[in-house]
Amino acid sequence: MLKHLRILFTLFIVCFVALDSTAYGKSVAVDELATYKNGMVSSQEAIASTVGVDILRKGGNAVDAAVATGFALAVTYPRAGNIGGGGFMLVYVAELKKSVAIDYREMAPKAANRDMFLDADGNVDNRKSRFSALSSGVPGTVAGMVYALETYGTMSLAEVIQPAIDLADKGFVVSNELHSALSRHQRRIGKFESTRAVYYPNNDKPMPVGRLFVQKDLAWVLKQIKARGAKGFYEGPVAKKIALDSQKNDGIITEQDLADYKVMDRAPITGTYRNHQVVSMPPPSSGGIHLVQMLNILEHWDIKESKLNSALTINRMVEVMKRAYSDRSLHLGDPDFHDVPVAQLISKRYAKDLYQKISKKQVTPSDDIRPGVLPKYESDQTTHYSVMDKYGNAVANTYTLNASFGNGRVAEGTGILMNNEMDDFSAKSGVPNMFGLIGGEANSIEAGKRPLSSMTPSLVIKDGKAMMATGSVGGSRIITTTLQAIMNVIDHQMDILSATKAPRFHHQWYPDSLVMENGFNPDVINQLRSMGYTVDAPEKMGHSATPAGRNIGFLQSIVFKDGVFTGTADPRRKESLAIGF
Ligand code: DON
Repeated sequence: MLKHLRILFTLFIVCFVALDSTAYGKSVAVDELATYKNGMVSSQEAIASTVGVDILRKGGNAVDAAVATGFALAVTYPRAGNIGGGGFMLVYVAELKKSVAIDYREMAPKAANRDMFLDADGNVDNRKSRFSALSSGVPGTVAGMVYALETYGTMSLAEVIQPAIDLADKGFVVSNELHSALSRHQRRIGKFESTRAVYYPNNDKPMPVGRLFVQKDLAWVLKQIKARGAKGFYEGPVAKKIALDSQKNDGIITEQDLADYKVMDRAPITGTYRNHQVVSMPPPSSGGIHLVQMLNILEHWDIKESKLNSALTINRMVEVMKRAYSDRSLHLGDPDFHDVPVAQLISKRYAKDLYQKISKKQVTPSDDIRPGVLPKYESDQTTHYSVMDKYGNAVANTYTLNASFGNGRVAEGTGILMNNEMDDFSAKSGVPNMFGLIGGEANSIEAGKRPLSSMTPSLVIKDGKAMMATGSVGGSRIITTTLQAIMNVIDHQMDILSATKAPRFHHQWYPDSLVMENGFNPDVINQLRSMGYTVDAPEKMGHSATPAGRNIGFLQSIVFKDGVFTGTADPRRKESLAIGF
Protein backbone atom coordinates (compact mmCIF):
# COMPACT_ATOMS: atom_id res chain seq x y z
CA MET A 1 0.00 0.00 0.00
CA LEU A 2 2.74 2.39 1.09
CA LYS A 3 4.68 1.49 -2.04
CA HIS A 4 1.68 2.29 -4.27
CA LEU A 5 1.14 5.58 -2.55
CA ARG A 6 4.78 6.46 -3.10
CA ILE A 7 4.54 5.63 -6.83
CA LEU A 8 1.36 7.74 -7.14
CA PHE A 9 3.02 10.63 -5.33
CA THR A 10 6.08 10.40 -7.58
CA LEU A 11 3.93 10.39 -10.71
CA PHE A 12 2.07 13.43 -9.43
CA ILE A 13 5.31 15.32 -8.80
CA VAL A 14 6.75 14.36 -12.21
CA CYS A 15 3.60 15.61 -14.00
CA PHE A 16 3.54 18.76 -11.90
CA VAL A 17 7.13 19.61 -12.70
CA ALA A 18 6.68 18.74 -16.38
CA LEU A 19 3.68 21.07 -16.58
CA ASP A 20 5.37 23.68 -14.51
CA SER A 21 8.49 23.75 -16.64
CA THR A 22 6.42 24.44 -19.73
CA ALA A 23 4.41 27.12 -17.99
CA TYR A 24 7.14 29.64 -18.79
CA GLY A 25 6.71 29.31 -22.53
CA LYS A 26 6.94 26.80 -25.29
CA SER A 27 9.23 24.05 -24.10
CA VAL A 28 11.67 23.10 -26.82
CA ALA A 29 13.28 19.75 -27.31
CA VAL A 30 17.03 19.99 -27.43
CA ASP A 31 17.09 19.10 -31.09
CA GLU A 32 14.89 21.99 -32.24
CA LEU A 33 15.83 25.51 -33.17
CA ALA A 34 14.07 27.63 -30.57
CA THR A 35 13.01 31.11 -31.69
CA TYR A 36 11.74 33.90 -29.43
CA LYS A 37 11.20 37.65 -29.54
CA ASN A 38 11.92 38.83 -26.01
CA GLY A 39 14.95 37.01 -24.71
CA MET A 40 16.43 33.57 -24.13
CA VAL A 41 18.37 31.40 -21.77
CA SER A 42 20.32 28.33 -22.86
CA SER A 43 21.75 26.19 -20.08
CA GLN A 44 22.66 22.56 -19.53
CA GLU A 45 19.75 21.85 -17.20
CA ALA A 46 16.11 22.51 -18.04
CA ILE A 47 14.78 23.69 -14.66
CA ALA A 48 17.61 26.22 -14.34
CA SER A 49 16.89 27.55 -17.85
CA THR A 50 13.22 28.10 -16.95
CA VAL A 51 14.27 29.88 -13.75
CA GLY A 52 16.30 32.31 -15.87
CA VAL A 53 13.49 32.89 -18.36
CA ASP A 54 11.07 33.56 -15.53
CA ILE A 55 13.35 36.38 -14.35
CA LEU A 56 13.41 37.81 -17.91
CA ARG A 57 9.61 37.66 -17.99
CA LYS A 58 9.47 39.67 -14.79
CA GLY A 59 11.42 42.43 -16.56
CA GLY A 60 14.86 41.45 -15.28
CA ASN A 61 17.83 41.93 -17.55
CA ALA A 62 20.26 39.28 -18.83
CA VAL A 63 22.49 39.61 -15.75
CA ASP A 64 19.56 39.16 -13.35
CA ALA A 65 18.59 36.02 -15.30
CA ALA A 66 22.18 34.77 -15.46
CA VAL A 67 22.63 35.08 -11.69
CA ALA A 68 19.32 33.33 -11.03
CA THR A 69 20.31 30.55 -13.45
CA GLY A 70 23.75 30.26 -11.86
CA PHE A 71 22.33 29.77 -8.35
CA ALA A 72 19.64 27.37 -9.66
CA LEU A 73 22.22 25.20 -11.44
CA ALA A 74 24.09 24.90 -8.13
CA VAL A 75 21.02 23.04 -6.88
CA THR A 76 19.78 21.14 -9.94
CA TYR A 77 23.05 20.39 -11.76
CA PRO A 78 25.54 19.37 -9.08
CA ARG A 79 28.02 17.99 -11.59
CA ALA A 80 29.13 21.48 -12.50
CA GLY A 81 26.60 24.08 -11.36
CA ASN A 82 28.09 25.28 -8.13
CA ILE A 83 28.75 27.63 -5.30
CA GLY A 84 31.86 25.66 -4.31
CA GLY A 85 33.74 26.45 -7.52
CA GLY A 86 34.44 29.43 -9.72
CA GLY A 87 34.24 30.79 -13.23
CA PHE A 88 33.94 33.69 -15.60
CA MET A 89 31.07 35.89 -16.71
CA LEU A 90 31.26 38.00 -19.83
CA VAL A 91 28.60 40.68 -20.15
CA TYR A 92 27.67 42.98 -23.00
CA VAL A 93 26.15 46.05 -21.38
CA ALA A 94 23.94 47.55 -24.09
CA GLU A 95 23.45 50.89 -22.37
CA LEU A 96 27.20 51.49 -22.20
CA LYS A 97 27.89 49.75 -25.51
CA LYS A 98 30.70 47.89 -23.81
CA SER A 99 31.67 44.40 -22.68
CA VAL A 100 33.00 43.51 -19.27
CA ALA A 101 34.72 40.36 -18.01
CA ILE A 102 34.04 39.27 -14.45
CA ASP A 103 36.71 36.89 -13.11
CA TYR A 104 35.50 34.81 -10.18
CA ARG A 105 38.02 32.02 -10.62
CA GLU A 106 39.13 30.12 -7.51
CA MET A 107 42.29 31.33 -5.74
CA ALA A 108 45.02 29.17 -4.26
CA PRO A 109 44.84 29.30 -0.44
CA LYS A 110 47.55 31.17 1.49
CA ALA A 111 49.27 27.95 2.56
CA ALA A 112 49.54 26.65 -1.03
CA ASN A 113 53.00 26.24 -2.49
CA ARG A 114 54.59 25.24 -5.72
CA ASP A 115 55.52 21.67 -4.80
CA MET A 116 52.44 20.78 -2.79
CA PHE A 117 51.38 17.99 -5.16
CA LEU A 118 54.79 16.31 -5.49
CA ASP A 119 55.58 13.09 -3.67
CA ALA A 120 58.86 12.22 -1.96
CA ASP A 121 60.41 11.31 -5.33
CA GLY A 122 59.37 14.59 -6.90
CA ASN A 123 56.59 13.03 -9.00
CA VAL A 124 53.12 14.54 -9.29
CA ASP A 125 50.61 12.83 -7.01
CA ASN A 126 47.43 13.06 -9.09
CA ARG A 127 45.25 11.75 -6.31
CA LYS A 128 46.29 14.71 -4.18
CA SER A 129 45.86 17.32 -6.91
CA ARG A 130 42.45 16.00 -8.02
CA PHE A 131 40.62 14.30 -5.21
CA SER A 132 42.04 15.31 -1.83
CA ALA A 133 40.82 18.31 0.16
CA LEU A 134 44.03 20.00 -1.01
CA SER A 135 42.70 20.01 -4.57
CA SER A 136 40.20 22.79 -3.79
CA GLY A 137 40.88 26.42 -4.50
CA VAL A 138 39.02 29.12 -2.57
CA PRO A 139 35.59 29.25 -4.27
CA GLY A 140 34.67 32.40 -6.22
CA THR A 141 31.17 31.73 -7.53
CA VAL A 142 29.14 33.46 -4.81
CA ALA A 143 31.33 36.58 -4.90
CA GLY A 144 31.12 36.62 -8.70
CA MET A 145 27.35 36.25 -8.86
CA VAL A 146 26.76 38.92 -6.22
CA TYR A 147 29.22 41.31 -7.87
CA ALA A 148 27.64 40.82 -11.31
CA LEU A 149 24.17 41.45 -9.93
CA GLU A 150 25.12 44.53 -7.91
CA THR A 151 27.11 46.06 -10.74
CA TYR A 152 25.14 45.16 -13.86
CA GLY A 153 21.81 43.74 -12.68
CA THR A 154 18.55 45.47 -11.82
CA MET A 155 16.86 43.12 -9.35
CA SER A 156 17.59 42.34 -5.71
CA LEU A 157 19.63 39.35 -4.61
CA ALA A 158 16.60 38.15 -2.64
CA GLU A 159 14.53 37.98 -5.85
CA VAL A 160 17.07 36.18 -8.01
CA ILE A 161 18.27 33.67 -5.41
CA GLN A 162 14.77 32.69 -4.23
CA PRO A 163 14.11 30.11 -6.99
CA ALA A 164 17.33 28.30 -6.03
CA ILE A 165 16.34 28.38 -2.36
CA ASP A 166 12.93 26.91 -3.23
CA LEU A 167 14.49 24.19 -5.37
CA ALA A 168 16.81 23.19 -2.52
CA ASP A 169 14.25 23.60 0.26
CA LYS A 170 11.19 22.06 -1.38
CA GLY A 171 13.07 19.80 -3.76
CA PHE A 172 12.94 18.96 -7.42
CA VAL A 173 12.40 15.67 -9.17
CA VAL A 174 15.52 13.63 -9.92
CA SER A 175 15.98 13.19 -13.68
CA ASN A 176 17.39 10.21 -15.49
CA GLU A 177 20.51 12.19 -16.25
CA LEU A 178 21.16 13.23 -12.65
CA HIS A 179 20.61 9.68 -11.47
CA SER A 180 22.93 8.18 -14.06
CA ALA A 181 25.64 10.79 -13.41
CA LEU A 182 25.49 9.91 -9.71
CA SER A 183 25.74 6.20 -10.56
CA ARG A 184 28.70 6.74 -12.89
CA HIS A 185 30.65 8.72 -10.33
CA GLN A 186 29.61 6.79 -7.22
CA ARG A 187 32.88 4.96 -6.78
CA ARG A 188 34.84 8.20 -6.67
CA ILE A 189 32.51 10.55 -4.79
CA GLY A 190 30.31 8.15 -2.83
CA LYS A 191 33.16 7.24 -0.55
CA PHE A 192 32.93 10.51 1.36
CA GLU A 193 30.42 10.35 4.17
CA SER A 194 29.23 13.95 3.79
CA THR A 195 28.67 13.38 0.05
CA ARG A 196 26.89 10.09 0.65
CA ALA A 197 24.53 11.78 3.07
CA VAL A 198 23.33 14.15 0.33
CA TYR A 199 23.43 12.10 -2.88
CA TYR A 200 23.33 8.45 -1.76
CA PRO A 201 21.11 8.60 1.31
CA ASN A 202 19.24 5.30 0.98
CA ASN A 203 21.50 2.33 1.58
CA ASP A 204 24.21 4.01 -0.44
CA LYS A 205 22.07 4.02 -3.59
CA PRO A 206 22.19 7.09 -5.88
CA MET A 207 19.09 9.30 -5.65
CA PRO A 208 16.49 7.38 -7.70
CA VAL A 209 14.77 8.78 -10.80
CA GLY A 210 11.49 10.47 -9.91
CA ARG A 211 12.39 11.06 -6.26
CA LEU A 212 11.88 14.52 -4.83
CA PHE A 213 15.41 15.70 -4.02
CA VAL A 214 15.48 18.05 -1.04
CA GLN A 215 18.80 19.66 0.04
CA LYS A 216 18.23 21.33 3.41
CA ASP A 217 21.89 22.18 4.14
CA LEU A 218 22.31 23.80 0.76
CA ALA A 219 19.03 25.71 1.28
CA TRP A 220 20.43 26.98 4.58
CA VAL A 221 23.59 28.24 2.85
CA LEU A 222 21.58 29.95 0.11
CA LYS A 223 19.43 31.63 2.77
CA GLN A 224 22.58 32.93 4.47
CA ILE A 225 23.61 34.45 1.15
CA LYS A 226 20.15 35.92 0.61
CA ALA A 227 20.27 37.54 4.06
CA ARG A 228 23.86 38.79 4.09
CA GLY A 229 25.03 38.89 0.48
CA ALA A 230 28.49 37.48 -0.28
CA LYS A 231 29.36 37.81 3.43
CA GLY A 232 26.80 35.10 4.11
CA PHE A 233 29.22 32.72 2.38
CA TYR A 234 32.68 34.19 2.99
CA GLU A 235 32.25 35.11 6.66
CA GLY A 236 30.34 33.64 9.58
CA PRO A 237 28.88 30.14 10.00
CA VAL A 238 29.15 28.98 6.36
CA ALA A 239 32.81 30.02 6.08
CA LYS A 240 33.48 28.34 9.41
CA LYS A 241 32.02 25.05 8.21
CA ILE A 242 33.95 25.11 4.91
CA ALA A 243 37.25 25.85 6.69
CA LEU A 244 36.58 23.25 9.38
CA ASP A 245 35.78 20.59 6.81
CA SER A 246 38.94 21.42 4.87
CA GLN A 247 41.11 21.18 7.98
CA LYS A 248 39.48 17.97 9.18
CA ASN A 249 40.46 16.38 5.88
CA ASP A 250 44.04 17.70 5.76
CA GLY A 251 43.13 20.59 3.47
CA ILE A 252 44.46 24.13 3.87
CA ILE A 253 41.52 26.49 3.26
CA THR A 254 41.08 28.80 6.25
CA GLU A 255 38.39 31.30 7.22
CA GLN A 256 40.90 34.02 6.37
CA ASP A 257 41.31 32.63 2.83
CA LEU A 258 37.55 32.87 2.39
CA ALA A 259 37.38 36.38 3.81
CA ASP A 260 40.20 37.44 1.45
CA TYR A 261 38.58 36.15 -1.76
CA LYS A 262 38.41 38.86 -4.45
CA VAL A 263 36.43 39.17 -7.68
CA MET A 264 38.32 40.87 -10.52
CA ASP A 265 36.59 43.04 -13.10
CA ARG A 266 38.93 42.66 -16.07
CA ALA A 267 39.17 44.12 -19.56
CA PRO A 268 37.93 41.46 -22.00
CA ILE A 269 40.00 40.21 -24.91
CA THR A 270 38.70 41.73 -28.11
CA GLY A 271 39.51 40.89 -31.67
CA THR A 272 37.95 41.05 -35.08
CA TYR A 273 37.01 38.30 -37.47
CA ARG A 274 35.66 39.09 -40.93
CA ASN A 275 33.92 42.31 -39.87
CA HIS A 276 32.63 40.94 -36.59
CA GLN A 277 33.96 41.89 -33.19
CA VAL A 278 34.82 38.88 -31.03
CA VAL A 279 34.91 39.44 -27.28
CA SER A 280 36.11 36.80 -24.87
CA MET A 281 37.69 36.01 -21.51
CA PRO A 282 41.16 37.35 -20.65
CA PRO A 283 43.70 35.61 -18.36
CA PRO A 284 43.56 33.79 -16.01
CA SER A 285 41.66 32.11 -18.82
CA SER A 286 43.65 31.19 -21.87
CA GLY A 287 40.40 30.93 -23.83
CA GLY A 288 39.96 34.46 -25.15
CA ILE A 289 43.59 34.95 -26.20
CA HIS A 290 43.80 31.70 -28.12
CA LEU A 291 40.35 32.04 -29.65
CA VAL A 292 41.30 35.44 -31.07
CA GLN A 293 44.80 34.27 -32.00
CA MET A 294 43.38 31.32 -33.97
CA LEU A 295 40.73 33.46 -35.68
CA ASN A 296 43.42 36.00 -36.63
CA ILE A 297 45.39 33.32 -38.43
CA LEU A 298 42.38 31.63 -39.99
CA GLU A 299 41.18 34.93 -41.43
CA HIS A 300 43.97 34.65 -44.01
CA TRP A 301 42.21 31.76 -45.76
CA ASP A 302 38.84 31.65 -47.48
CA ILE A 303 37.32 29.08 -45.13
CA LYS A 304 33.88 29.30 -46.71
CA GLU A 305 35.39 28.19 -49.96
CA SER A 306 37.44 25.38 -48.45
CA LYS A 307 34.13 24.14 -46.93
CA LEU A 308 33.01 22.91 -43.56
CA ASN A 309 34.88 19.85 -42.29
CA SER A 310 36.76 19.12 -45.49
CA ALA A 311 40.28 17.70 -45.06
CA LEU A 312 41.73 21.01 -46.26
CA THR A 313 39.75 23.09 -43.74
CA ILE A 314 40.46 20.69 -40.89
CA ASN A 315 44.17 20.66 -41.72
CA ARG A 316 44.34 24.46 -41.67
CA MET A 317 42.47 24.68 -38.41
CA VAL A 318 44.55 21.97 -36.74
CA GLU A 319 47.83 23.64 -37.71
CA VAL A 320 46.48 26.76 -36.03
CA MET A 321 45.28 24.89 -32.94
CA LYS A 322 48.72 23.30 -32.42
CA ARG A 323 50.42 26.73 -32.43
CA ALA A 324 47.89 28.20 -30.02
CA TYR A 325 48.15 25.38 -27.45
CA SER A 326 51.93 25.45 -27.75
CA ASP A 327 51.96 29.17 -26.92
CA ARG A 328 49.54 28.50 -24.08
CA SER A 329 52.01 26.17 -22.40
CA LEU A 330 54.67 28.86 -22.09
CA HIS A 331 53.03 32.24 -21.92
CA LEU A 332 49.74 31.86 -20.06
CA GLY A 333 49.09 32.18 -16.34
CA ASP A 334 47.41 34.43 -13.79
CA PRO A 335 48.14 37.99 -14.98
CA ASP A 336 48.39 39.18 -11.38
CA PHE A 337 51.47 36.96 -10.95
CA HIS A 338 52.89 36.56 -14.42
CA ASP A 339 53.28 39.01 -17.27
CA VAL A 340 51.13 37.57 -20.06
CA PRO A 341 52.08 39.05 -23.46
CA VAL A 342 48.44 39.59 -24.38
CA ALA A 343 48.88 42.28 -27.01
CA GLN A 344 51.53 40.28 -28.87
CA LEU A 345 49.61 37.03 -28.81
CA ILE A 346 46.45 38.57 -30.25
CA SER A 347 48.19 40.90 -32.68
CA LYS A 348 47.38 40.59 -36.37
CA ARG A 349 51.12 40.84 -37.10
CA TYR A 350 51.98 37.75 -35.04
CA ALA A 351 49.07 35.93 -36.68
CA LYS A 352 50.44 36.81 -40.09
CA ASP A 353 53.90 35.48 -39.17
CA LEU A 354 52.36 32.20 -38.06
CA TYR A 355 50.15 32.03 -41.13
CA GLN A 356 53.16 32.42 -43.41
CA LYS A 357 54.98 29.59 -41.65
CA ILE A 358 51.95 27.32 -41.67
CA SER A 359 51.06 27.86 -45.29
CA LYS A 360 54.43 26.50 -46.39
CA LYS A 361 53.76 23.12 -44.77
CA GLN A 362 51.21 20.42 -45.07
CA VAL A 363 51.17 18.76 -41.65
CA THR A 364 53.59 19.92 -38.96
CA PRO A 365 54.32 17.25 -36.31
CA SER A 366 53.85 18.63 -32.80
CA ASP A 367 57.51 17.88 -32.03
CA ASP A 368 58.49 20.50 -34.62
CA ILE A 369 56.37 23.18 -32.98
CA ARG A 370 57.59 25.23 -30.05
CA PRO A 371 55.97 28.25 -28.42
CA GLY A 372 56.36 31.13 -30.89
CA VAL A 373 58.87 33.95 -30.74
CA LEU A 374 56.60 36.89 -30.14
CA PRO A 375 57.00 40.23 -31.89
CA LYS A 376 58.08 43.19 -29.80
CA TYR A 377 55.14 44.91 -28.18
CA GLU A 378 53.34 46.95 -30.80
CA SER A 379 50.80 49.54 -29.87
CA ASP A 380 49.23 48.06 -31.06
CA GLN A 381 32.86 18.99 -15.40
CA THR A 382 32.16 22.88 -16.13
CA THR A 383 28.96 24.27 -17.41
CA HIS A 384 28.25 27.10 -19.77
CA TYR A 385 25.08 29.10 -20.21
CA SER A 386 24.12 32.05 -22.37
CA VAL A 387 21.44 34.69 -21.83
CA MET A 388 20.24 37.51 -24.07
CA ASP A 389 17.50 40.02 -23.29
CA LYS A 390 15.24 42.43 -25.13
CA TYR A 391 17.32 45.40 -23.95
CA GLY A 392 20.30 44.27 -26.02
CA ASN A 393 22.33 42.87 -23.11
CA ALA A 394 24.06 39.52 -23.39
CA VAL A 395 25.76 37.21 -20.91
CA ALA A 396 28.09 34.29 -21.56
CA ASN A 397 28.92 32.50 -18.33
CA THR A 398 31.12 29.46 -17.81
CA TYR A 399 31.70 28.14 -14.30
CA THR A 400 33.00 24.90 -12.94
CA LEU A 401 34.05 22.55 -10.19
CA ASN A 402 36.70 21.26 -12.66
CA ALA A 403 36.00 17.48 -12.70
CA SER A 404 32.39 16.27 -12.55
CA PHE A 405 31.21 16.91 -8.97
CA GLY A 406 34.60 18.57 -8.33
CA ASN A 407 36.75 16.62 -5.88
CA GLY A 408 33.57 14.83 -4.85
CA ARG A 409 33.62 16.17 -1.31
CA VAL A 410 30.64 17.93 0.22
CA ALA A 411 31.83 20.28 2.95
CA GLU A 412 30.09 18.78 5.95
CA GLY A 413 26.87 20.48 6.98
CA THR A 414 26.73 22.77 3.94
CA GLY A 415 25.61 20.64 0.98
CA ILE A 416 28.38 22.37 -0.98
CA LEU A 417 30.43 20.22 -3.37
CA MET A 418 33.99 21.49 -3.44
CA ASN A 419 36.04 22.09 -6.59
CA ASN A 420 39.33 20.46 -7.58
CA GLU A 421 40.56 23.45 -9.54
CA MET A 422 44.09 23.25 -8.07
CA ASP A 423 44.73 20.54 -10.71
CA ASP A 424 44.52 23.28 -13.37
CA PHE A 425 47.84 24.59 -12.09
CA SER A 426 50.96 23.07 -13.50
CA ALA A 427 51.92 20.85 -10.55
CA LYS A 428 55.31 20.22 -12.18
CA SER A 429 56.76 21.81 -15.29
CA GLY A 430 55.99 19.73 -18.38
CA VAL A 431 53.77 17.16 -16.61
CA PRO A 432 50.26 17.08 -18.15
CA ASN A 433 47.23 17.83 -15.98
CA MET A 434 43.84 16.08 -16.05
CA PHE A 435 43.18 17.45 -19.54
CA GLY A 436 46.60 16.50 -20.89
CA LEU A 437 47.61 20.17 -20.85
CA ILE A 438 51.24 21.04 -20.31
CA GLY A 439 52.41 24.17 -18.54
CA GLY A 440 55.35 25.64 -16.77
CA GLU A 441 56.49 28.50 -14.60
CA ALA A 442 53.73 30.89 -15.68
CA ASN A 443 51.15 28.53 -14.23
CA SER A 444 53.04 27.20 -11.20
CA ILE A 445 51.28 27.12 -7.82
CA GLU A 446 51.58 30.21 -5.60
CA ALA A 447 49.52 31.43 -2.68
CA GLY A 448 46.68 33.65 -3.83
CA LYS A 449 47.21 32.80 -7.50
CA ARG A 450 44.45 31.67 -9.89
CA PRO A 451 45.00 28.49 -11.91
CA LEU A 452 45.07 28.90 -15.68
CA SER A 453 41.75 28.04 -17.33
CA SER A 454 40.50 27.15 -20.79
CA MET A 455 36.98 28.43 -20.20
CA THR A 456 35.96 30.65 -23.10
CA PRO A 457 32.65 32.46 -22.57
CA SER A 458 32.41 34.58 -25.71
CA LEU A 459 30.31 37.20 -27.46
CA VAL A 460 30.17 38.27 -31.08
CA ILE A 461 29.26 41.90 -31.65
CA LYS A 462 28.09 43.10 -35.05
CA ASP A 463 27.36 46.73 -35.91
CA GLY A 464 27.44 47.67 -32.22
CA LYS A 465 24.92 45.02 -31.17
CA ALA A 466 25.39 41.70 -29.38
CA MET A 467 24.76 39.10 -32.08
CA MET A 468 25.90 35.87 -30.43
CA ALA A 469 26.57 34.58 -26.94
CA THR A 470 28.35 31.25 -26.78
CA GLY A 471 30.66 28.98 -24.84
CA SER A 472 31.19 25.38 -23.93
CA VAL A 473 32.35 22.89 -21.35
CA GLY A 474 35.05 20.29 -21.97
CA GLY A 475 38.34 21.27 -20.33
CA SER A 476 41.07 21.81 -22.89
CA ARG A 477 38.53 21.27 -25.70
CA ILE A 478 36.52 24.34 -24.76
CA ILE A 479 38.63 26.75 -26.82
CA THR A 480 38.46 24.73 -30.05
CA THR A 481 34.75 24.00 -29.55
CA THR A 482 33.98 27.70 -29.20
CA LEU A 483 36.17 28.43 -32.23
CA GLN A 484 34.13 26.01 -34.34
CA ALA A 485 30.81 27.48 -33.14
CA ILE A 486 31.88 30.98 -34.17
CA MET A 487 33.33 29.86 -37.51
CA ASN A 488 30.25 27.80 -38.33
CA VAL A 489 28.10 30.88 -37.87
CA ILE A 490 30.39 33.46 -39.50
CA ASP A 491 32.20 31.47 -42.20
CA HIS A 492 29.67 28.81 -43.03
CA GLN A 493 26.60 30.98 -42.30
CA MET A 494 24.88 28.16 -40.48
CA ASP A 495 21.92 28.65 -38.17
CA ILE A 496 22.87 28.05 -34.56
CA LEU A 497 21.33 24.57 -34.39
CA SER A 498 23.27 23.30 -37.41
CA ALA A 499 26.37 25.10 -36.12
CA THR A 500 26.01 23.29 -32.81
CA LYS A 501 25.17 19.88 -34.22
CA ALA A 502 28.00 19.77 -36.77
CA PRO A 503 30.62 17.20 -35.72
CA ARG A 504 33.68 18.70 -34.06
CA PHE A 505 37.39 17.97 -33.89
CA HIS A 506 40.18 18.99 -31.55
CA HIS A 507 43.94 19.15 -31.38
CA GLN A 508 45.95 20.57 -28.48
CA TRP A 509 49.55 20.21 -29.70
CA TYR A 510 50.30 17.39 -27.22
CA PRO A 511 49.35 14.61 -27.44
CA ASP A 512 49.95 14.81 -31.21
CA SER A 513 46.57 13.31 -31.96
CA LEU A 514 43.62 14.69 -33.89
CA VAL A 515 40.44 13.71 -32.07
CA MET A 516 37.21 13.66 -34.04
CA GLU A 517 33.62 13.07 -33.03
CA ASN A 518 31.41 10.64 -34.89
CA GLY A 519 29.77 12.03 -37.99
CA PHE A 520 32.69 12.99 -40.24
CA ASN A 521 32.83 11.79 -43.82
CA PRO A 522 34.97 8.59 -43.81
CA ASP A 523 36.76 9.80 -46.97
CA VAL A 524 37.86 12.91 -45.11
CA ILE A 525 39.21 10.81 -42.24
CA ASN A 526 41.12 8.61 -44.70
CA GLN A 527 42.53 11.67 -46.41
CA LEU A 528 43.67 13.09 -43.07
CA ARG A 529 45.32 9.77 -42.18
CA SER A 530 47.15 9.68 -45.47
CA MET A 531 48.39 13.20 -44.80
CA GLY A 532 50.06 11.81 -41.67
CA TYR A 533 47.51 12.54 -38.96
CA THR A 534 46.91 10.17 -36.08
CA VAL A 535 43.13 10.32 -35.88
CA ASP A 536 41.49 9.20 -32.63
CA ALA A 537 38.03 9.12 -31.14
CA PRO A 538 37.67 11.65 -28.29
CA GLU A 539 37.45 8.99 -25.59
CA LYS A 540 40.90 7.73 -26.63
CA MET A 541 42.46 10.93 -25.41
CA GLY A 542 42.25 9.77 -21.84
CA HIS A 543 40.27 12.60 -20.29
CA SER A 544 38.81 9.95 -18.06
CA ALA A 545 37.95 12.20 -15.18
CA THR A 546 35.96 14.58 -17.35
CA PRO A 547 32.40 14.24 -18.52
CA ALA A 548 33.54 14.87 -22.08
CA GLY A 549 33.51 11.18 -23.11
CA ARG A 550 32.78 10.70 -26.76
CA ASN A 551 31.91 14.34 -27.27
CA ILE A 552 34.00 17.37 -27.86
CA GLY A 553 32.33 20.04 -25.77
CA PHE A 554 28.71 20.94 -25.18
CA LEU A 555 27.73 24.34 -26.59
CA GLN A 556 25.01 26.57 -25.19
CA SER A 557 24.49 29.46 -27.60
CA ILE A 558 22.05 32.19 -28.53
CA VAL A 559 22.07 34.28 -31.71
CA PHE A 560 20.18 37.55 -32.21
CA LYS A 561 19.56 38.32 -35.85
CA ASP A 562 16.81 40.14 -37.77
CA GLY A 563 14.97 40.97 -34.55
CA VAL A 564 14.65 37.40 -33.24
CA PHE A 565 16.56 35.24 -30.81
CA THR A 566 17.43 31.72 -31.87
CA GLY A 567 19.18 29.46 -29.46
CA THR A 568 20.22 25.90 -28.92
CA ALA A 569 21.09 23.71 -26.06
CA ASP A 570 23.63 21.23 -27.37
CA PRO A 571 21.69 18.08 -28.40
CA ARG A 572 24.71 16.08 -27.22
CA ARG A 573 23.30 16.44 -23.72
CA LYS A 574 19.66 15.61 -23.08
CA GLU A 575 18.83 17.58 -19.97
CA SER A 576 19.86 20.91 -21.46
CA LEU A 577 17.29 23.46 -22.63
CA ALA A 578 17.23 26.65 -24.67
CA ILE A 579 14.08 28.56 -23.93
CA GLY A 580 12.73 32.09 -24.09
CA PHE A 581 9.51 34.02 -24.38
O1 DON B 1 39.06 25.95 -16.16
C1 DON B 1 39.27 25.00 -16.89
O2 DON B 1 39.79 25.09 -17.99
C2 DON B 1 38.82 23.62 -16.44
N1 DON B 1 38.78 23.59 -15.01
C3 DON B 1 37.50 23.30 -17.05
C4 DON B 1 36.97 21.94 -16.65
C5 DON B 1 35.95 21.40 -17.56
O3 DON B 1 35.58 21.99 -18.54
C6 DON B 1 35.42 20.06 -17.21
N2 DON B 1 34.40 19.66 -18.11
N3 DON B 1 34.43 19.03 -19.07
